[in-house]
Amino acid sequence: MSESYDVVIIGGGPGGYNCAIRAGQLGLKTACVEMRETLGGTCLNVGCIPSKALLHASELYETAAKDFEGFGIRTGELSFDLKTMMGRKDEAVAGLTKGVAGLLKKNKVDHIRGKGRIAGKGEVVVEDADGKTQTLKTKHIVIATGSEVTPLPGVEIDEKRVVSSTGALSLEKVPGKLVLIGAGVIGLELGSVWRRLGAEVTVVEYLDRILPGMDGEIAKQAQKIFAKQGMSFKLGRKVTGVSEGAGGQLSVATEAAAGGSEEVLEADTVLVCIGRRPYTEGLGLETVGIETDRRGFIANDHWQTGAENVWVVGDCTHGAMLAHKAEDEGVACAERIAGKAGHVNYNAIPGVVYTNPEIASVGQTEEQLKAAGRAYKVGKFPFLANSRARANHETDGLVKVLADAKTDEVLGVHMIGKGVGEMIAEAALALEFRAASEDIARTSHPHPTMTEAIRQAAMGVEGWTMQA
Ligand code: FAD
Ligand code: NAI
Repeated sequence: MSESYDVVIIGGGPGGYNCAIRAGQLGLKTACVEMRETLGGTCLNVGCIPSKALLHASELYETAAKDFEGFGIRTGELSFDLKTMMGRKDEAVAGLTKGVAGLLKKNKVDHIRGKGRIAGKGEVVVEDADGKTQTLKTKHIVIATGSEVTPLPGVEIDEKRVVSSTGALSLEKVPGKLVLIGAGVIGLELGSVWRRLGAEVTVVEYLDRILPGMDGEIAKQAQKIFAKQGMSFKLGRKVTGVSEGAGGQLSVATEAAAGGSEEVLEADTVLVCIGRRPYTEGLGLETVGIETDRRGFIANDHWQTGAENVWVVGDCTHGAMLAHKAEDEGVACAERIAGKAGHVNYNAIPGVVYTNPEIASVGQTEEQLKAAGRAYKVGKFPFLANSRARANHETDGLVKVLADAKTDEVLGVHMIGKGVGEMIAEAALALEFRAASEDIARTSHPHPTMTEAIRQAAMGVEGWTMQA
């Protein structure tokens, strides 16, 4: 049987399901095809949500173990039950994925289970788990198939001992020694989880810095803090292979990025986290004449691909691989399909690393401004001088505001500190409204809060910081 739609979306992650909901709201007859058992994509099933659940639980544990005493709180002997912790995580995932199914239903979107494939103009073939196929006729197709782990040649992922983020979110016991390949977002977040629960964590990073793409000064501070917490960093090194010894111990062979200086690290578990790549396998792109670039991304112009009425959003097209970016694109794409003016401001998409302290950023980094030859001013404020941070004994970190030297427009805001992931939305709004640093400096901020550090950093742009 063939069903006829206005829009068929392939992929039910943040890009796909938000596109589907918006299309439904705009009165378009919509279907969302998802091959996974549940909706929500990488983010809800094996990404943002389970990782944050484990980060929260492990942080509570570490806080109780290390900080309670200083506040005069006695707990007796502290221990944790990994199974319960994992159960809580699974509960959050199950609740949220069900919630997405409910939202699709509410907005009259058909949720079609199976692997979707484009079969020419206006046609999507869906094959379900039993191999049964159905053909959907549609005016528009949206590709929202997301991304997958980038493999590392010579290192085979078995999701038990050599794991990707997916395996690292479900380990059955705390590894004695955990080696991370890649000091990016996944490595630092999941490395923090397992370190807090007792693993000895070593990070091997190809570059001579952690968190490439983040503001260099903030990344340097982060590395210092994580090293103090017990993570060990091997920068400027690459992994050349992982092998299992007679006793079952893993050996991770490394050498300097430029070659030579070999060193072998022992590990119980190895986490491969060197980035993600677009997932477009078996999608039938050739049937509509779409070619991917060298790295597998599908190019777009306002989410339109080169093929008529075929659109693309989320991780499988260019830009930051972030859930909210995928979501914003999904909504804007549905609006464009409906003939409206969908828009995404790529300059105001925040990024957060959910470690403790958190790292958050929006807009341009100092390195990017320098490379572009843009004249800018800087204002900074350390949490050490913030009253709430002092009261809470959470003084690591700073806020940095970058503004145009002439117009004072805020160009970038970068922070490291307790809970800054919640604070960065204020800076994103400032960029969205093209605020001047003076606008932030003259906006009343509640006292005593950590957000006052943003205001003080903005005051610092013109040199009239009050509290430092
Ligand atoms: P996805 O979420 O990958 O969804 C694509 C969906 O399409 C999948 O469900 C897949 O099964 C389905 N699919 C693929 N091909 C087909 C097909 N042919 N037919 C049917 N279905 C198909 N981002 C953040 O912003 N914040 C975070 O805290 C964060 N944490 C993360 C933690 C981890 C461990 C990981 C791995 C990622 C994290 N991300 C985070 C990134 C975030 O998960 C992605 O950017 C986001 O999920 C991208 O959304 P998407 O819709 O483009 O793709
Ligand atoms: P990443 O791109 O953040 O970091 C990968 C790191 O691995 C980089 O530092 C890179 O230099 C290094 N690397 C690359 N090849 C290497 C090699 N051969 N040997 C050693 N190091 C090597 O990628 P990651 O951490 O895998 O995350 C993937 C994506 O998921 C990110 O793009 C991120 O956007 C998203 N994500 C977002 C989160 C968030 O928003 N909080 C959380 C987790 C993931």
